[in-house]
Amino acid sequence: MTKRLDAFNNKKVKVPFFYPTITKADKLAIMKALNSPLLTDGPNLKKFEFEFGRFCGALNSIGVSNATSGLFLSLKSLGIGLNDEVIVPDLTFAATASSVIQTGGKPVLADVDDDLNISLESIKKCINRKTKAIIPVHFAGKSCKINDIMKLAKKNNLYVIEDCAHAIGTYYKNKHVGTFGDTGCFSFYPTKNITTLEGGMILTKSKKLANRITKLKNQGITKSLNQRFSKGKPWEYDIDEPGYNFRLDEIRSALGISQLKQLKSFNTKRWNAAKYYWKKLNNIDGILCPEMHSKNEHTFHLYIIRITPKFTLTRDKLFKKFLKNGIRTSVHYKPLHEFSLIKKYSKISNLQNSKLLYKQILSLPMYPGITKHEQDLVIQTILS
Ligand SMILES: Cc1ncc(COP(=O)(O)O)c(C=O)c1O
Repeated sequence: MTKRLDAFNNKKVKVPFFYPTITKADKLAIMKALNSPLLTDGPNLKKFEFEFGRFCGALNSIGVSNATSGLFLSLKSLGIGLNDEVIVPDLTFAATASSVIQTGGKPVLADVDDDLNISLESIKKCINRKTKAIIPVHFAGKSCKINDIMKLAKKNNLYVIEDCAHAIGTYYKNKHVGTFGDTGCFSFYPTKNITTLEGGMILTKSKKLANRITKLKNQGITKSLNQRFSKGKPWEYDIDEPGYNFRLDEIRSALGISQLKQLKSFNTKRWNAAKYYWKKLNNIDGILCPEMHSKNEHTFHLYIIRITPKFTLTRDKLFKKFLKNGIRTSVHYKPLHEFSLIKKYSKISNLQNSKLLYKQILSLPMYPGITKHEQDLVIQTILS
């Protein structure tokens, strides 16, 4: 039986919400990168960018410090700024909207459908003269209706920035998410489907956009370290606009290369765990499980069930029961309209479904290494 340490040192926890999978190969890759004289902006970053881009079928890929900086750099590089409106789902992590606020723009909160993805109908109602972009999120690992969103965006001359933080390995009609929009932004935060601890990647078709993002993420400097030190004088570069330090270092990149090789196996394990939950929970009155699609249409970054009024306990009571039984669960997410920052800076549409879902959703433990025994403890708590 697997005995796991709880991340927060709670000895009573039997099933954590998440447990990382860092393999021997990952540790070797990190040590190898640490022995190099070049610790940032070097060959590991180039390789990780190339391999990740190739895996997704993207023309350009840029490693960044995290998905939040990826979203922000995408918006900035597309020229989004003061008072520009950007449509985001109400049900997402705060970064989707705070990256818009950081540019001076205004997030417009759209409602979500029952699968927790942004609603096309709600997006349509949010569009006006000031709208410049849409940031759909492929929520929990399931693609949103990205083809319809792209059509709508084209018709209204809007940019699309795909928030793919949850969706590494997710395809929509055999095309990897993040390759539909103007950019796609991925997160390699520890709980994501692969990790670089902290880290992110931006995909884009546009070479021009890729060049601007690459420059902005590196202090606005017009040349890479390699270009500066391979010919001429290393200090001979220009800065033509204020930039940031949103770089992804060599150690994280080396870990990313190693984790990417294991992505398919990680996602298969997540999918099998989802299938097991589905088999055991789907027939319980009042519990709604996410639909099982083919393996690459939902990569189960999160496994979210709905506790409807037909169930014997409310969501909050079930959460407490899990806690008492040593099982950590959570809610993804408290909707954006509930945060004081967002209330102050955003425009809020009719969020009827998001409000309802917020009362009913509960995220169960999900990670590649989860055992049947751990899942059975979760399932037993619901059944009892
Ligand atoms: C939907 C969504 N977008 C963006 C982010 C931000 O990712 P990062 O932590 O890499 O900045 C997250 C992080 O959890 C997320 O869930």
